[in-house]
Amino acid sequence: MKLSTVTTGVIGLAGSVIAQTDSTPFVDADTGITFQSYTSTDGITYRLALPAEASGDAGYDVILQIVAPTELGWAGWAWGGAMTYNPLTVVWKDGDSVQFSSRQATGYYVPATYDDAKYTVLKGTGVNETHFKFTALCTGCASWTDFDGNPYILNGAGDTNFAYAFSNTPVEEPANPESGFSIHDNVGRWIHDLAGARSDQFEEWVTTNTPA
Ligand code: HEM
Repeated sequence: MKLSTVTTGVIGLAGSVIAQTDSTPFVDADTGITFQSYTSTDGITYRLALPAEASGDAGYDVILQIVAPTELGWAGWAWGGAMTYNPLTVVWKDGDSVQFSSRQATGYYVPATYDDAKYTVLKGTGVNETHFKFTALCTGCASWTDFDGNPYILNGAGDTNFAYAFSNTPVEEPANPESGFSIHDNVGRWIHDLAGARSDQFEEWVTTNTPA
C-alpha cells in the first residue's frame, strides 16, 4: 500500500493522496453543461457529465466532450484506462466538421470499429480557428465486456483512471469514421472525479443540446 512508504508528514499527505483527482468542474458556455474536466499537458481536454443516479450497479449514459488543437491528427479517450478491451472514442477534424469513431483494440494495432458504444452528437461540436470540439451523448462508454468476458461498469460514485492517446499525423480518410490512422505520439493516464461529474440536470442537458 502506497502510504506505508511515507515516513514523514503522514497526516497531511494522507489527506491529499486520498482526495486527489486530476479533473475539476467546468461550465461549458456552448452547452450550459457542467463537466468534470481534465486537460493533459499536451493541451487536449477531456470532459464528462453523468446522470445523478450513475453507479457501479447498472449501465448509464454519459455526456463527453473533447477539445483539441486543430493541428492535431487524432485524439482518443480510453474508457478503461488502457488501450485494449475497453471502448475507445477517437475524434479528428474533417475540414470544418468533427468526425468521431467508436473503436476497440484487441491488441496493439489499429483498433477495430466498436458497435457496442452508440454516440449522439450534441451541440457544442464544431471547429474554430484554434480548436475542434466534440460533444456527444454516449450509450456504452461507461460499461463494456472485459478481457475475461465479464461485464464491467464504471463506478459513477467514485474516481476512475482514464487514458488518452493522440497523434499529430492526420488520419488516412478524414471523412470516413472507419479510417485507418497511425500510432500515437503520446499516451497518458489521469484520474477523473466521476462522483463530481453527476448531476440531476443530465436529462435536461441532453434535451436542450440535442440538435433539432
Ligand atoms: C494505429 C493505432 C494504434 C497503434 C498501432 C497502437 C499501438 C500501441 C503500442 C505498440 C503500445 C505500446 C504497448 C506497450 O509497450 O506496452 C500502445 C500503448 C497504448 N495505447 Fe495504443 N495504438 C494505437 C491506437 C490507440 C488508440 C486509438 C488509443 C486510445 C484511444 C490507444 C491507447 C493506448 C494506451 C492508453 C497505451 C498505454 C498502454 C496500455 O494502456 O495498454 N492506442 N499502443
